[in-house]
Amino acid sequence: MTRTDNDTWEITESVGATALGVAAARAAETESANPLIRDPFARVFLDTVGDGVWSWYEARELPAEVVAAEPDLPRRMRAMVDYFASRTAFFDSFFLDATNAGIRQAVILAAGLDARAWRLPWPDGVTVYELDQPRVLEFKSSTLRAHGAEPACTRVAVPVDLRQDWPTALRQAGFDASAPSAWSAEGLMPYLPAAAQELLFTRVHALTVTGSRVAVEALAPDFADPEARARRRQRMERIQALMANADPHRQVPRSDELWYFEERDDVGDWLRRHGWQVTVTPSAELMAGYGRRPPTEIEDAAPRNLFVSAQRAG
Ligand SMILES: C[S@@+](CC[C@H](N)C(=O)[O-])C[C@H]1O[C@@H](n2cnc3c(N)ncnc32)[C@H](O)[C@@H]1O
Repeated sequence: MTRTDNDTWEITESVGATALGVAAARAAETESANPLIRDPFARVFLDTVGDGVWSWYEARELPAEVVAAEPDLPRRMRAMVDYFASRTAFFDSFFLDATNAGIRQAVILAAGLDARAWRLPWPDGVTVYELDQPRVLEFKSSTLRAHGAEPACTRVAVPVDLRQDWPTALRQAGFDASAPSAWSAEGLMPYLPAAAQELLFTRVHALTVTGSRVAVEALAPDFADPEARARRRQRMERIQALMANADPHRQVPRSDELWYFEERDDVGDWLRRHGWQVTVTPSAELMAGYGRRPPTEIEDAAPRNLFVSAQRAG
C-alpha cells in the first residue's frame, strides 16, 4: 500500500488497521494467564469489526506446517504481545505519574484505540485530548458509546491529521498552552515522514511550559538501515507464503509498507537541545523491567525502539 502526503483511512484500512493490530495485542495480553496490563475495551473493538489482518497480533495458534517450517514463529509472535504490553504499561505509568504530580492536561497524539481515557484511574479534573484521524476517533467513540462505557476523565476528541495544523485544532478544543501538560506519542513515529516528526516536536515544544512532560516511543537506531529492513521484509515474505498455503484466510500484516524509512533526528537529543531533561530506556531494558524480555535467540523479535520520557526544564 502506497502512502501519500494527504492520505486518510477508515479504522480497517491502511494505517487505521494498525490501531486494531495494537488492540489485538492488548486483548491477547488482557486475556492471558498473568496480564501485565488490562484493557477490556480492546476486545470490544475487535468484536465490532470481526477478523482481519489485525487479528495476527493476537498471536493465536498457527497451522502445524507453518510451525514446522518456522519453529520460532510462535515465540516471536508472543514477544510482540510482550512488547505491546510493556509499551502500554510504560505510557500508563507516565500519565498516572504526571497527573498525580498535578498536571491536568494530557494529550495523546495518534490515540488510535488506546482506551486510557476510559480505563485509567485519573485524578479529578484531568482533561485528556485525543488526536487522530476523524474516522478512527469516530469508530472509537461510537463503539464505546454503544457498549455503554463512560470516560474516567473529561475526554476531548480532536479529529485531525498530524501532518496538518493540529495545534490550532487542539487550542480550539480547549487546550491551554499556558498551563503544564503531559504528552504521548506511542506507535506513531514510523507513520510520519522525518520532516513531519521534526515539526511535531517543534509544535509540542511551542505548546508547553516548564514542568510539562512528554513520552515518546522513538524509532530504533537501525530503523532505516537497509540490511535490517531487507531481513525483516524477507522474513515477512516467507511467512506470508507459508500462510497463503496453510490458511489463506489468515492475513499476515505488512505494516512496514506503511512506514517512512527515512533518517531522523534522535528524539532524546532533540529534546535535550531544547531544554528538556530526558531519560531514554531501550525496549529490551523496559521489557526486562516487566519480566518480559525476549529470550536471547529471538531478541530481534521485538522492535529495538527507545522509550523516551522528558520533563521541560526551561
Ligand atoms: C499503530 S497505531 C497506534 C495507536 C495508539 N497510539 C496505540 O498505541 O494503541 C497508529 C495510529 O496513528 C494514527 N496516525 C498515524 N499517522 C497519523 C496522522 N498523520 N494523523 C493522525 N493520526 C495518525 C493512526 O490513525 C493510528 O491510530
